[in-house]
Amino acid sequence: PAIRVGVGRLGAVWPLVVYRRRCAVLLCGFRRDFYRILGVSKSASVKDIKKAYRKLALQLHPDRNLDDPEAQDKFQDLGAAYEVLSDEEKRKQYDHYGEEGLKEGRQGSHDDIFSHFFGDFGFMFGGNPRQQDRNIPRGSDIIVDLEVTLEEVYSGNFVEVVRNKPVAKHASGKRKCNCRQEMRTTQLGPGRFQMTQEMVCDECPNVKLVNEERTLEVEIEPGVRDGMEYPFIGEGEPHIDGEPGDLKFRIKVLKHPVFERRGDDLYSNVTISLVEALVGFEMVITHLDGHKVHIVRDKTTKPGAKLWKKGEGLPNFDNNNIKGSLIITFDVDFPKDQLTDDQKEGVKQLIKQGPVKKVYNGLQGY
Ligand SMILES: *[C@@H]1O[C@H](CO)[C@@H](O)[C@H](O)[C@H]1NC(C)=O
Repeated sequence: PAIRVGVGRLGAVWPLVVYRRRCAVLLCGFRRDFYRILGVSKSASVKDIKKAYRKLALQLHPDRNLDDPEAQDKFQDLGAAYEVLSDEEKRKQYDHYGEEGLKEGRQGSHDDIFSHFFGDFGFMFGGNPRQQDRNIPRGSDIIVDLEVTLEEVYSGNFVEVVRNKPVAKHASGKRKCNCRQEMRTTQLGPGRFQMTQEMVCDECPNVKLVNEERTLEVEIEPGVRDGMEYPFIGEGEPHIDGEPGDLKFRIKVLKHPVFERRGDDLYSNVTISLVEALVGFEMVITHLDGHKVHIVRDKTTKPGAKLWKKGEGLPNFDNNNIKGSLIITFDVDFPKDQLTDDQKEGVKQLIKQGPVKKVYNGLQGY
């Protein structure tokens, strides 16, 4: 906290302790607005909160804001805001009594929260994640397919993955480490040497691998594409003499019974009856998030006819505000029963269409 000396109206000098961030004993006027810090509304869902946190954590990470002296504070505030608002119980207390209403000693470490979203080594910025130092051995990367539904691709979601992660812990004794081949030269006599290669090791404190349970939060961003990878740095296979590898979740979009995805567009088929094809119809399709798409036709609908609904496709991955189209292809279900002679005559009278018997090469589209 910065301490300033202010001069009051009566000339008395009084110390003014300006606690910029933390609410302190003297001036408890500054309260952190966790909703504002996260940029979400009071009614935000847990998903909104996670989403806001994940986005801001990348922006505000101190490693990315080296020239901002307040970066650390902003980042801590973000962690505190997330910790409280993502927890139903704490959020309720905060809503009622503010930050003071929260129980003491709750402060978890922000690094912990951060690593749930990005992995243990945090996110390495600047394009090149983790300088690959050839001399440091590295555990292998693990790539895991993460199956997501089309509903999740449409609306976005967070998936909690509990991983049993082997973590190196100290153990008693020593162990050989950093082993390498070295050349040794022995003089056998004047002008005669023998070179031998031998293994040389250091002594290191012993470690053992202990399984630790860890929850990772994988964001399924709206519009995510098949095969995209979400890396968690340092959450892969450990290496006893070096760094762990990375854990990567590879998105695998599951097939959907109603919609098929092509880029940002969705395709769907609808079967209508012959009568509906001729006289028109009205219907409702339930979309991936449950909203209704109305379809009204009063013209005739030929088999194979396509209807485009702009903006009813999937959100674009790079800009969620842009949505693809929903393309509906109709096929026509003919009546199963054979018509009687009377009915045949009736249809002829009703639909006055002359005979058409055009023979053509349909594969060439004539
Ligand atoms: C469903 O729609 C697709 C895309 O328009 C079309 O290629 C396909 O033939 C349709 N399927 C059926 C069974 O009509």
